[in-house]
Amino acid sequence: MTKLKWGMIGGGEGSQIGPAHRLGALADGRFEMAAGALDHRPDVGKEYAQRLGIAEDRAYGDWQEMLAGEKVRADRVDLVTVATPNSTHFEITKAFLEGGFNVLCEKPMTMTVEEGEEIVKVAAKSDKICAVNYCYSAYPMVRQARAMVRAGEIGKVRLVVTNFSHGHHGDATDADNPRVRWRYDPAMAGVSGQFADCGIHAMHMAGFIADDEVKSLSADFASTIASRELEDDAMVNFRMSGGAVGRLWTSSVAIGRQHGFDIQVFGETGGLRWASEQPNQLIYTPVGGRTQIIEKGEGGLHEDAQRLSRVAIAHPEGFPLAVANIYCDLADAISGELRDGLPNAVDGVRSMAAVYNAVASAKEGGMWMDARPPMFR
Ligand code: NAI
Repeated sequence: MTKLKWGMIGGGEGSQIGPAHRLGALADGRFEMAAGALDHRPDVGKEYAQRLGIAEDRAYGDWQEMLAGEKVRADRVDLVTVATPNSTHFEITKAFLEGGFNVLCEKPMTMTVEEGEEIVKVAAKSDKICAVNYCYSAYPMVRQARAMVRAGEIGKVRLVVTNFSHGHHGDATDADNPRVRWRYDPAMAGVSGQFADCGIHAMHMAGFIADDEVKSLSADFASTIASRELEDDAMVNFRMSGGAVGRLWTSSVAIGRQHGFDIQVFGETGGLRWASEQPNQLIYTPVGGRTQIIEKGEGGLHEDAQRLSRVAIAHPEGFPLAVANIYCDLADAISGELRDGLPNAVDGVRSMAAVYNAVASAKEGGMWMDARPPMFR
């Protein structure tokens, strides 16, 4: 089988998310790394790309050069990953979709709802795939949870409770560290800090497992470190279109919590719990019955969870393999087999609408707001 050609923008040496994309994209032999504009410093990016095995003529100085160079090649890349800082996602993603490329964009997809709606339209017009890297949704046991909800194994969903709360920005004496400070600076981060950074993963996950959309929300934001303009802690209550009640807590000052992402889904006949720090287990309790641990890789899992379990039962699979599952679904989609679990531009714009409406709600003392983007109301 011919490998698909993959290119990357951002994710340079020393970046946080770059290695997970490289490990993920290359894990299954479906993609080869053919092109890249990996760093905001052109020479540094070119040099690193060549060290990773990219040919000199496809180690580009910036994304515009990469777009121009790849467009005219017969063996152009089949997929471009955008792993640059948030404020650049919109223009790069739009330009590559319009250039006829499939795109995997990092979250948040855009900085505004209007930009998000435009990406949805551009993607539809281009007939290309625009995926968004809500990679936690690709853990096998998250797919198992969604399949169980879809199969009616916990009955109608009543309640979703999710947290994405860590303590890594909780040290007030470190608040001016440049790597921390920008996240709470509206000029760099946009309208929201912690909710846009981590909370949207939890909100996406709620919709993903419950197989429903977040319809309305009410938010309480706090900057617990006084020098911060944007929130470092948020509590968001929400309602889903199917009637389920949602509770979401996200924080970066919860000292002692590490990654801190978990979700519980309670239905009429059972409950489920998944936590990113124990991603290979899904906890299931049927009403009136004993709590069970469902393990990645065991027999009898739903098809999507089975397909995405890589190594034998009890051997851990972690974050890079969840990202690899996104790339698996992308390779299938590019080859014509669309996977409905693949997060896309619609998920991207839903997140932006949730962010903007949570900010508006928090400013209005928690007033309930329509959480949906105007195009989906
Ligand atoms: P980072 O600051 O660690 O790295 C950014 C990289 O992009 C650097 O190598 C930098 O040189 C490069 N870069 C910046 N501007 C560029 C440009 N115009 N052209 C080419 N390269 C450029 O950032 P990090 O933490 O890796 O985040 C990148 C994106 O990934 C963000 O949007 C972030 O929200 C997202 N992210 C997503 C995660 C997930 O779970 N899906 C986890 C961590 C980050």
